[in-house]
Amino acid sequence: MASAMPLAAETAPQDVAYDDIGAIAEPLSETAGNPEEGAKIYADKGTGNCVACHAISARTDAEFQGNIGPSLDGAGDRWSVEQLRGIVADAKRTFPESMMPSMYKTAGYVRPGDAFTGKAGTEPLPPLLNAQQIEDVVAYIATLKE
Ligand code: HEC
Repeated sequence: MASAMPLAAETAPQDVAYDDIGAIAEPLSETAGNPEEGAKIYADKGTGNCVACHAISARTDAEFQGNIGPSLDGAGDRWSVEQLRGIVADAKRTFPESMMPSMYKTAGYVRPGDAFTGKAGTEPLPPLLNAQQIEDVVAYIATLKE
């Protein structure tokens, strides 16, 4: 663990171990993901806002569902929990060139010149979701079975 991280029970974004298909084997937080919390984060415009791009048939509560990304119906059958964790944390590791935002990434964005000027702009950026929110959303998506 990086010594500067205040929450020892979480894996910091820069310490996450992705495998070669973009999956993350180890949970990012000690507390297991809560699918009910994840369902809220999924549709909450201030946090996950997954609903802006994705649709889930069962979510009749959502006023608007997006179609930029694929329907997530059955995503819990298509992907393992480890793969879902990798997709939610940093989708570009699974789908290169994806327009899906990296939810748990604070640095390493391509900005040529930074390494030379030492001016890294605003990095490290705050992650879009924290470790527990990632686990909660992953737990929720894993429940989506055909
Ligand atoms: C800006 C649009 C956008 C947002 C926001 C977004 N995604 Fe995606 N997502 C995509 C696209 C596009 C894909 C298809 C993969 C690709 O890019 O080729 C995808 C793929 C996925 C997949 C794999 C789909 C499958 O069934 O094969 C999952 C799971 C997923 N997203 C979950 C999420 C979750 C959870 C959130 C919110 C935390 C989220 N996405 C937010 C655009 C988005």
